[in-house]
Amino acid sequence: MKIAVVGTGYVGLVTGTCFAEVGIDVTCIDIDQKKIDNLHNGILPIYEPGLEEMVSRNVEKGRLHFSTNLSEAIKGCDVAFIAVGTPPGEDGSADLKYVLAVARGIGENIDEYCVVVTKSTVPVGTAAKVRTELEQALQKRGASVEFDVASNPEFLKEGAAIDDFLKPDRIVVGISSERAEEVMTKLYKPFLLNGHPIIFMDIPSAEMTKYAANSMLATKISFMNDVANLCEIMGADVNMVRRGIGSDARIGTKFIYPGIGYGGSCFPKDVKALIKTAQENGYDMQVLRAVESVNDAQKSVLFDKLSRHFQGELRGLHIAVWGLSFKPKTDDMREAPSLVIIEKLLAAGCTVTAYDPVAMPEAKHSLGDRIAYAKDEFEALIDADALLVVTEWPDFRVPNFGVMARLMKQKAIFDGRNIYEAKELKELGFTYHCIGVKT
Ligand code: UGA
Repeated sequence: MKIAVVGTGYVGLVTGTCFAEVGIDVTCIDIDQKKIDNLHNGILPIYEPGLEEMVSRNVEKGRLHFSTNLSEAIKGCDVAFIAVGTPPGEDGSADLKYVLAVARGIGENIDEYCVVVTKSTVPVGTAAKVRTELEQALQKRGASVEFDVASNPEFLKEGAAIDDFLKPDRIVVGISSERAEEVMTKLYKPFLLNGHPIIFMDIPSAEMTKYAANSMLATKISFMNDVANLCEIMGADVNMVRRGIGSDARIGTKFIYPGIGYGGSCFPKDVKALIKTAQENGYDMQVLRAVESVNDAQKSVLFDKLSRHFQGELRGLHIAVWGLSFKPKTDDMREAPSLVIIEKLLAAGCTVTAYDPVAMPEAKHSLGDRIAYAKDEFEALIDADALLVVTEWPDFRVPNFGVMARLMKQKAIFDGRNIYEAKELKELGFTYHCIGVKT
């Protein structure tokens, strides 16, 4: 099989590389010449564990190609994935101009039957717009090439994307013809060996599935954050409550970890977009509106604890921050709670030294030299009045508390991810605050 993947961002690059990994001939296309040149030189635009090696292996094998030339690459493809960005507009709705421009480009160039698949997260109704765009482009050139559109949302987690792609829980595909179903079944066959299903459905349902999945996960997190805050007030321990409810299979153990709010490029954007789509269609997503406002408030919880600890006297304090990315194993800073926390610290007159294993270059784009960046987690602690643990990188999980105590000016830890044992830290003489546990 031969496929094209348009857009070499996170989704496109992982998708293209993983299809190449199972032997499919893949061309990844981008309009950004620099990005394509870099990819030819093995330089990736994103950090994702294992991806660099996989890209170079498949380039060497001659089944993964990079190009800026859509018209060339699209010829003879069985499937063309549209995986370009859908940045949120001012009002929160997804901006489809890149998706539709690619659809037009495909329509201007295909010369035989092809399934055109939306892979980017797009609102319900987008595949229909893609179809219209293609039809118009074909009409303009007087061509009568058959094609189908399909919707194939991705469920990749940053930091675990390759595994999620190669061993998916499920593959959701919205189609409107048997021919498209056959092509998509053939394409995904190598990924179905572990018994997980490919679920075919109508196109609007596939488009909605993506938003419903992310919104449900965001709801679990906001709900647990709400419960955690109440636990603190009532003297309960949310870690115990989490274990108590998680063992009920109907609730499940995953995505019920309280923290400092969800971030990243997906949950905040998709929750907003679904609220907006509903509004535009005369429906009020009440639960999701609450999910969003709980999340906004949760990003301030760690700062509020610090402020209470120092009785509001934060000016001149030196604060160490461990972790900047919105979650471990990524350098993604989009909607990262660290940004809200650090802005609050700076506004309160603190100085900040941060350390993150991979996200510091990315963080510098928004934080610049308003904070200091340490070369490792211990350097960040020198003369610190407090440590805020913001991202639960494995590097921070079992630190040498003895060394930490010697480096810090005041032994105060504010743990936004509940990775330490309150009892152990107390015994070592630390003041310890976490989420949802009265300490
Ligand atoms: C999320 C979904 O998990 C993927 O299935 C989906 O494909 C992806 O969005 C997408 O739409 O592209 P991702 O944003 O990479 O993936 O990150 P997650 O691992 O889901 O974490 C999201 C946020 O929730 C992080 O800020 C994390 O710290 C937070 N979180 C997660 C919690 O606060 N508690 C939890 O129990 C789990």
